[in-house]
Amino acid sequence: MIKIIAANTIASYILIEHLATTIWHEHYTSIIGQDQVEYMIRKFQTATAIKAQVKQGYCYYIIYYNSIAAGYLSIKKEGDALFLSKIYIQKEYRGKGLGKTAMAFIEQQAIKRNCTKITLTVNIHNSKSIKAYKYMGFVNTGSIVQDIGNGFVMDDYTMEKTI
Ligand SMILES: CC(C)(COP(=O)(O)OP(=O)(O)OC[C@H]1O[C@@H](n2cnc3c(N)ncnc32)[C@H](O)[C@@H]1OP(=O)(O)O)[C@@H](O)C(=O)NCCC(=O)NCCS
Repeated sequence: MIKIIAANTIASYILIEHLATTIWHEHYTSIIGQDQVEYMIRKFQTATAIKAQVKQGYCYYIIYYNSIAAGYLSIKKEGDALFLSKIYIQKEYRGKGLGKTAMAFIEQQAIKRNCTKITLTVNIHNSKSIKAYKYMGFVNTGSIVQDIGNGFVMDDYTMEKTI
């Protein structure tokens, strides 16, 4: 059974930090290299960084599969768009419908917040996830390179889904 629960305690931010550490090392090392993975976890996915993002309007949720924390997601309203900032499922739980259930949940959240579309950015070399997003109804709307400091950049496509 899949459940999606809002994360708004320090304990839940620590759990997300652990999930991010596992998933990002496994998934992104071959895409952006270990140094950038570690830098980005420190900058964006420690419990302290998450707490600061929540204060800025990001909402985090943990995705449970049979009571196990299998992944997480984060969203933020930006005008008429709901920005899907993060969606990460642990490798062993992918392909079981968690992403699809999470996306249906995100669409409900978009409707609740009077948004007409969901937007996201995805690394241009993250080809499996790009395929999954296209399958789930997203279209490519351009590209963006963001300087994140320490000599690192995020080299992304922008995608969106109209709802
Ligand atoms: C992208 C991600 C969130 C998708 O979650 P998931 O639980 O694996 O997805 P689901 O099992 O719910 O699949 C959703 C649908 O997309 C399809 N799909 C998933 N991966 C696919 C791929 N690589 N190519 C084509 N279709 C794909 C599935 O077949 C499924 O459709 P179906 O139910 O009709 O068969 C997950 O794979 C993930 O966390 N990846 C690694 C981290 C990442 O890159 N996150 C995105 C950062 S921008």
